[in-house]
Amino acid sequence: MFDLLLKTALAYLIGNLMGGALIGLLRGGVDLRKQGSGNVGATNALRTQGAKFALGVLAIDVAKGVLAARLVPLLGPFGTPLLDGATQAYLCGVAVALGHCYPLFYGFRGGKGVATLAGVFGALLGPALLWMLAVFVLIVLLSGYVSLATLGACLTAIVWTALAPAGLHSATGAFTLAMALLVVWKHRDNIRRLLAGSESRFEKARVLGR
Ligand code: G3P
Repeated sequence: MFDLLLKTALAYLIGNLMGGALIGLLRGGVDLRKQGSGNVGATNALRTQGAKFALGVLAIDVAKGVLAARLVPLLGPFGTPLLDGATQAYLCGVAVALGHCYPLFYGFRGGKGVATLAGVFGALLGPALLWMLAVFVLIVLLSGYVSLATLGACLTAIVWTALAPAGLHSATGAFTLAMALLVVWKHRDNIRRLLAGSESRFEKARVLGR
């Protein structure tokens, strides 16, 4: 039990290292929460600060997802492990995503978990991530809406898991469903704006839908 608590807590704390906040500090105190969509993620960084800033944010947020899901479960054991390695990795993946979305050290006002979960999926479910990325890129190219593309990627993850041999009634299924729901919940304002037609769009990215 202690083993699991320690690893989950560590993964949560790693999630608290917000790429947007760290690069913002390096750039003299830029606060992404006060600009654009108000999100601390790479999309809002690109929208308001440019590509270099956004790449830095993306790299940190993806890397912490990989680190928490791939390396943290290998630490220890600090006691008798309660769960098998794969389930521990999913639990650390959930913890790092929650640490990013609801960071204790950032006033619980975190990001939407997309880049961090891309890192987690890349570390644990590589083939699923490839399909998710393909759908994501296609929707961005067609519509210019990153939020819509993210929702499409969530749906892809669920379909991919449902079609896998173990289906949705498995640790992978529970993880995928829970994380897709978290991301959809974090995008509730984007969904409202998409429905109202007021969501901000990257016009230059929209090449196929013209
Ligand atoms: O990664 C988050 C993206 O899906 C939406 O970001 O800034 O448009 O709310 P934003």
